[in-house]
Amino acid sequence: MDYNSEFRKSIERPEDFWREKAQAIDWIEPPQTIWQPTDNGHGQWFPDGTLNTSDVALDANIRAGRGEQKALIYDSPVTGTTDSYTYNELTRAVATFAGALQDRGVTKGDRVILYMPMIPEAVIAMLGCARIGAIHSVVFGGFAAHELAVRIDDAAPKAIITASCGIEVKKVIEYKPLVDRAIDQAEHKPECCIVFQRPQVKAQLKEGRDFDWNELVSQASPVDPVPVKATDPLYILYTSGTTGKPKGVVRDNGGHAVALRYSMQLVYDASPGDVFWAASDVGWVVGHSYIVYAPLFAGCTTILYEGKPVKTPDAGAFWRVVQEHGVDMLFTAPTAFRAVRKEDPEADQLARYDVSSLKRIFLAGERLDPPTYEWLKEHTGLPILDHWWQTETGWAICCNPIGIEMMETKPGSATVPSPGYNVQVVDMEGSQVPANEQGQIAVKLPLPPGCMTTVWGDDARFCKTYLDPIPGFYSSGDGGFIDDDGYVFIMGRTDDVINVAGHRLSTGEMEEVVASHPAIAECCVVGANDEMKGQIPVGLVLIKDGATIDHDELEDELIEMVRDKIGAIACFKRAMVVDRLPKTRSGKILRRVIRQIADGEEYSVPSTIDDPAILEEISARFKR
Ligand code: COA
Ligand code: AMP
Repeated sequence: MDYNSEFRKSIERPEDFWREKAQAIDWIEPPQTIWQPTDNGHGQWFPDGTLNTSDVALDANIRAGRGEQKALIYDSPVTGTTDSYTYNELTRAVATFAGALQDRGVTKGDRVILYMPMIPEAVIAMLGCARIGAIHSVVFGGFAAHELAVRIDDAAPKAIITASCGIEVKKVIEYKPLVDRAIDQAEHKPECCIVFQRPQVKAQLKEGRDFDWNELVSQASPVDPVPVKATDPLYILYTSGTTGKPKGVVRDNGGHAVALRYSMQLVYDASPGDVFWAASDVGWVVGHSYIVYAPLFAGCTTILYEGKPVKTPDAGAFWRVVQEHGVDMLFTAPTAFRAVRKEDPEADQLARYDVSSLKRIFLAGERLDPPTYEWLKEHTGLPILDHWWQTETGWAICCNPIGIEMMETKPGSATVPSPGYNVQVVDMEGSQVPANEQGQIAVKLPLPPGCMTTVWGDDARFCKTYLDPIPGFYSSGDGGFIDDDGYVFIMGRTDDVINVAGHRLSTGEMEEVVASHPAIAECCVVGANDEMKGQIPVGLVLIKDGATIDHDELEDELIEMVRDKIGAIACFKRAMVVDRLPKTRSGKILRRVIRQIADGEEYSVPSTIDDPAILEEISARFKR
């Protein structure tokens, strides 16, 4: 099979195509109906199939004779620990934890929020929820209590699962006080909180509400996987949109299993027994899809790494893990390698390790800048494969389809649309723009299996955000172009979402926090280019008439507010006081021009601006 015929089949005969791909997973009741359109203009995959995702990830591997193969390797330079679980061991741990959840009254359809560091219990908790049909929602540990509270109110979980602490390089971050604060702030109160006590910190447990993980597990019995409908939600993962309210991306069970299993062949060319390492965090979609679910669906060994690319202890950390565990495929965000390159420009650390097991390096999460691509290619001599996807899709929209046909790579391009995704570059009316011209990147409906099915509790928002803007298409929020050879180039977001060190954040949300300071009359936050993190937020603020506050003091207060409300990962470290904000005569802030000024780029003065002189003032401030 070549790429073109596989792709054509997926678009021209999607039901035949996905019926065939669905055979690769163990169903409880295989689906008879492959696709069913729904009223919201979208539809459902495999509506009459039943399965259990934890069964597909775990028990199915035992049935296939892989029980004694390693399923999960935990490597934690921050605690000096490594550990591993075979499929037999991981299945037992998951089944018993699922039993503990059931004992706490958690059942099918209940939501469970996880606020966890990168420890095996995070994976066990996710799969444990899946085993009993509970819907997990993992919140990244770098988010502040307020962000957690917002998610608690939206998902209304029956239980919260957390650990006593996370460890950031050498900093021990206590999680439990944060969780307590979030529960206090939230209107919805979960019935219980299960806490995994780590040796570094002992969390205080609140009588009647909080339970010790180990105690619950020691009293629980393992449970079998509960059958769920393919269309039942597996998880909710919140992601930033243009407003302060994060969107709960809902992923189903059946489409997810089929798509992720297929992606392991198509995108990563992985086989059972391969060691697959996604150096990300379970709090992000990369972690959901490629630390937890897909490698297990494919019978691989997955690596859970509690560390950083640098400083734990040095820029050789990734190469050490590859050598120690015989990693076949490594997947991370370009920012991670930018950090490595900054500390080890000549890749001296690479020469210290035997990385001969490594076959390919995959990158995603942000644009793969050509210098990072070239550096990796030169020093490793391996295929460096960019692929483009989003929390919403859960797997690659564009990739180099190496499992079918290795295509020539072009720096700056995520290569070609994955089969199932009819990617087009269109204008806002949905008309295709010619090759090489920039426009909105959109996917003609229907989306393939594995993509979000709705926004949790708000289908109208799903339609309004993704389906209504360009009728007949899914709007990706990214802009770019397709060249004459059909290669897709993603040039960046067309909305107020920014990408900081591979983390997706909303400038709109930061503006809401900044604007809530009593001295601020008006503000605007834009993403400025940053050599290592890709983008970092920069705020321009206007002080209220009559407010007297030292500008440095104000900046410190604003930085602290964003840290406190959103979290340290927002990396909000600069807020400049200006006399006016550049606006159009109709009052719209000229964010694009501010971004260009922040990046030191040439900018043209828009004809609609009400006061052109302000641009020069701002430009001078940025140069200072
Ligand atoms: N829990 C608590 N705090 C966290 C956290 C977590 N899980 N993750 C990050 N933070 C904090 C950090 O401690 C830091 O706090 P500080 O401002 O007090 O120092 C802040 O958030 C920013 O962290 P980070 O963005 O990780 O910056 P860094 O300078 O520590 O490290 C990189 C830079 C590039 C090494 C790091 O961002 C990285 O490894 N990125 C990979 C990106 C990635 O995995 N993306 C996922 C998509 S594939
Ligand atoms: P997230 O939902 O956090 O995975 O972020 C998705 C966004 O990251 C996309 O909408 C893009 O803007 C950006 N992104 C992800 N992968 C790539 C890539 N390979 N090239 C360019 N941008 C990317």
